[in-house]
Amino acid sequence: MSSRFYIRLESKHDIPVIRKIHQSVFPTWSEAELVDYLQSEGDGVLSLVARRGGALAGHILFSRLTAVESMGLKAVALGPLAVLESYQGKGVGTALVSEGIKILHGQGVDVIFVLGDPAFYGRFGFTAEQARNFETPYDGPNQQALALTERGRYAHGLIRYAPAFADLPNAPLQTDD
Ligand SMILES: CC(C)(COP(=O)(O)OP(=O)(O)OC[C@H]1O[C@@H](n2cnc3c(N)ncnc32)[C@H](O)[C@@H]1OP(=O)(O)O)[C@@H](O)C(=O)NCCC(=O)NCCS
Repeated sequence: MSSRFYIRLESKHDIPVIRKIHQSVFPTWSEAELVDYLQSEGDGVLSLVARRGGALAGHILFSRLTAVESMGLKAVALGPLAVLESYQGKGVGTALVSEGIKILHGQGVDVIFVLGDPAFYGRFGFTAEQARNFETPYDGPNQQALALTERGRYAHGLIRYAPAFADLPNAPLQTDD
């Protein structure tokens, strides 16, 4: 099903549409602002769009994390992820996450973190158990991780998110989970 969509790297012409996609699917504009902030601060690691015909259907951003106690560990955060409502349930979100994981694996990333519904992210191999090796600002049942390397699997310690996550007013991921 995902083959009907073309996943590619974001180009600068996509930026206004990406912003609109996030604004339209989330209850507030916080996720759209988070995307802008992460990208303008240079903390975006990988930004992919899903395209169908001439239209963008979805977007995913991965951003840099700092593994404070595991020097050199390559860790990234998944999110925000958004698929326009009219394209949801057609495999676009799955294709964006899968392609992102594949590219990051190729880049030698050790571990990816995501805060989200385990019912969705579990299918890619993300687990809360893997995340529990680490200490993050979002620790809880919805904080999950996927190790892409042996190093990522056995690493542990404090993980710091990019400043955008804490500095945004109404930062979307500041939950009590
Ligand atoms: C969540 C989201 C990105 C999923 O994208 P999508 O293109 O609709 O997902 P897919 O079509 O690839 O769905 C794959 C499966 O995930 C399930 N799924 C979709 N959204 C889900 C959610 N929020 N929680 C749990 N499962 C979900 C679908 O039911 C489908 O299940 P199936 O394969 O068993 O039929 C999209 O619905 C969205 O943008 N939602 C609003 C924003 C959001 O919640 N972003 C994620 C924040 S962590």
